[in-house]
Amino acid sequence: MKIVGIHSSPRGKNSNTLKLLDAALAGAADAGADIESIDITRLNISYCIACDVCHKKGGCPIKDDFNNVMDKLLAADGIILSSPNYIINITAQLKTLFDRSPRIVHEQLFEGKYGFSLTTTGSGDVDFVLKIMNDYMVICGGNTVGGVGCAMAEGPSVLEAAVENSHEMGKDLVKAIRENRQYPEQDTVHKMWKEGFKYAILNNKDQWAHNYDYWLEKSWI
Ligand SMILES: Cc1cc2nc3c(=O)[nH]c(=O)nc-3n(C[C@H](O)[C@H](O)[C@H](O)COP(=O)(O)O)c2cc1C
Repeated sequence: MKIVGIHSSPRGKNSNTLKLLDAALAGAADAGADIESIDITRLNISYCIACDVCHKKGGCPIKDDFNNVMDKLLAADGIILSSPNYIINITAQLKTLFDRSPRIVHEQLFEGKYGFSLTTTGSGDVDFVLKIMNDYMVICGGNTVGGVGCAMAEGPSVLEAAVENSHEMGKDLVKAIRENRQYPEQDTVHKMWKEGFKYAILNNKDQWAHNYDYWLEKSWI
């Protein structure tokens, strides 16, 4: 079983959020998973240019590090997303990775995968930032087992507690994958999304040949 963690703070080893990610990955390793941590801030991942090639042909034509990172996520059983709060949001680096993912959304390529999210913030909005990352997981077809975060202003004890909770959630992620845990509310989101997006696929079937063929192959239309 492979678990991949995404680190998106530019502060490298000094990152508070990295402490949570390291603990989460250690928890997953303790539970028996192979782990890999990817620092996307050290990679070259440029903006989506809305060329539509991924919908037409299935691959991204931009020559940078994105395809390599996404191949690793697609090969993983579990994905841990992490970001500090940057102006009530995730970092631009992580958002850029998300924006390069329209094919992952259109073809629900995280289906069957599980993940969770981690954040640290200066003073607040922990749940809001976690939701942004967990929504990405679910809109790509995956399931989220939860999230862990803390506001640094509350003192060192909250970071210690969040590190411990991240470690536990890393272990729980492995358990969720092993037992093929069901999340009926998230499945409802997946079903409703597919029901609505079916019309986008049908309306664009000539332009989005790869998406359309994929939906046919999956018998979603
Ligand atoms: C550009 C920038 C924007 C930030 N915006 C917020 C914010 O809107 N709200 C907040 O509570 N903290 C904010 N912070 C503080 C960070 O979220 C906080 O220090 C976090 O723990 C940093 O994590 P890191 O060490 O993993 O980079 C911001 C920090 C930076 C550098």
